[in-house]
Amino acid sequence: MHFHKEIKPIVTFSLIFLVPIFLLIFHFQTSFNPLTFLHPFFDSKANLESDFCDYSNGKWVWDASFDGWYTESCRFLDPGFQCKKNGRNDTRFLHWRWKPHGCDLPRFNAKEMLERSRNKRIVFVGDSIGRNQWESIVCMLSSSISNPSNIYEQFGNPISKHRGFLSMVFKDYNLTMEYYRAPQIVVVDRFPPRNMSFGVMRGAIRVDKLPRFAHRWAGADILVLNSGHWWNIDKTLKLGHYFQVGQAINETMDIKEAFQRSMDTIKSWALNNPKFSKSHIFLRSYAPSHFINGTWKTHGTCAFESDPYDDTNNFQPESWTNQIVASTIKDMRNHGMRASILNVTYMTEFRKDGHPSAHREPGMPPHAPEDCSHWCLPGVPDAWNELLYANLLSFGSDKATTL
Ligand SMILES: *[C@@H]1O[C@H](CO)[C@@H](O)[C@H](O)[C@H]1NC(C)=O
Ligand SMILES: *[C@@H]1O[C@H](CO)[C@@H](O)[C@H](O)[C@H]1NC(C)=O
Ligand SMILES: *[C@@H]1O[C@H](CO)[C@@H](O)[C@H](O)[C@H]1NC(C)=O
Ligand SMILES: *[C@@H]1O[C@H](CO)[C@@H](O)[C@H](O)[C@H]1NC(C)=O
Ligand SMILES: *[C@@H]1O[C@H](CO)[C@@H](O)[C@H](O)[C@H]1NC(C)=O
Ligand SMILES: *[C@@H]1O[C@H](CO)[C@@H](O)[C@H](O)[C@H]1NC(C)=O
Repeated sequence: MHFHKEIKPIVTFSLIFLVPIFLLIFHFQTSFNPLTFLHPFFDSKANLESDFCDYSNGKWVWDASFDGWYTESCRFLDPGFQCKKNGRNDTRFLHWRWKPHGCDLPRFNAKEMLERSRNKRIVFVGDSIGRNQWESIVCMLSSSISNPSNIYEQFGNPISKHRGFLSMVFKDYNLTMEYYRAPQIVVVDRFPPRNMSFGVMRGAIRVDKLPRFAHRWAGADILVLNSGHWWNIDKTLKLGHYFQVGQAINETMDIKEAFQRSMDTIKSWALNNPKFSKSHIFLRSYAPSHFINGTWKTHGTCAFESDPYDDTNNFQPESWTNQIVASTIKDMRNHGMRASILNVTYMTEFRKDGHPSAHREPGMPPHAPEDCSHWCLPGVPDAWNELLYANLLSFGSDKATTL
């Protein structure tokens, strides 16, 4: 009985004070992203870097005063990305800025990035969308260099070169910004058509072998790889490109396994190469295309899209290539590598307005398919590079030794 009398005030106390406190905590937990909020305490040693803010999640906000970090007259642009010159006359797509939820992207500062990149090599490897991104960052950085002769291609090659690689030297900073064309990242051998028991073979995608230029990727201070657009049935098996392991063609291997094996090849190469001890590797995630009412072959269009999507109804589920990329990164990090995913998929999915569409490079026949895969520049890839910049800044504050 006595006992009962004493416990009553405690219960009352609890109801009056503890319940509201609990509700308050609950409220905070749900209105802040608990992962972002707690992450530093869980993982402060392993990740000094980008995980404090998830830059991949956010929204596009209109900014009338912003229309790009450079203009279309940047001399490092491929004609196919100069949409205005090719007849695009709406300019709304230039005014959107990416705003992550819960934080701001640091404002891109070309001089700051160049200063931090002194005596370094920044290397992009991938398909033509990777080239799109590389041209974007070269133009973003070049906007702060007044003397044009202080940026040049290391071997005198013109920007119109599409095979092999290009290496832009920023002389004042002894920085090279390099791009290597490798749409599937691993080696693709091509040969005259051969009749095989399983079909006509025109090439072999060698999932365990990197291109001969890969020795130049090693030792890059920053390596940004991308792949995905070439890992589909049309650009592999239907082209007559079969997968090869060692010396043997494997006619039954499916694309997912082949991609997984290719990522494993990159992973073990990077892990076993001492030149990578100081590098940071980014794998850029898939950049969605926007062929509306069709595919590129069946007159899919993005020509009348002057604004981003304002909802996510048309978004695709996470691609299997992204899943493999994410698990590859996780593995690399578990082995102590400095590796991150540059996750642009969600932000890019909104931007059906950012493609060249019918305003493709001059010389296209009138009924050529629209380009709803690549991006007008200035444009969406600049925001990917803002994400890259944000990631680089968050690695550390020591200007002299860290980028
Ligand atoms: C990429 O970011 C989006 C938005 O935050 C997220 O939904 C998705 O799971 C991320 N994908 C990967 C592979 O990290
Ligand atoms: C923009 O170009 C389209 C055709 O591509 C044309 O129909 C339209 O009138 C042009 N608008 C302006 C403002 O020039
Ligand atoms: C320029 O940078 C490279 C690394 O990319 C370095 O090996 C070389 O020593 C640097 N040159 C000078 C003059 O600092
Ligand atoms: C492949 O075989 C077909 C008939 O089976 C033949 O018409 C074609 O010329 C052959 N092609 C090559 C490259 O040998
Ligand atoms: C081809 O790859 C599949 C999937 O990994 C495997 O099961 C099969 O044994 C391979 N075939 C040959 C001939 O190596
Ligand atoms: C796509 O097709 C639908 C149905 O035919 C049509 O209403 C819509 O305008 C088309 N959209 C575009 C962008 O062509």
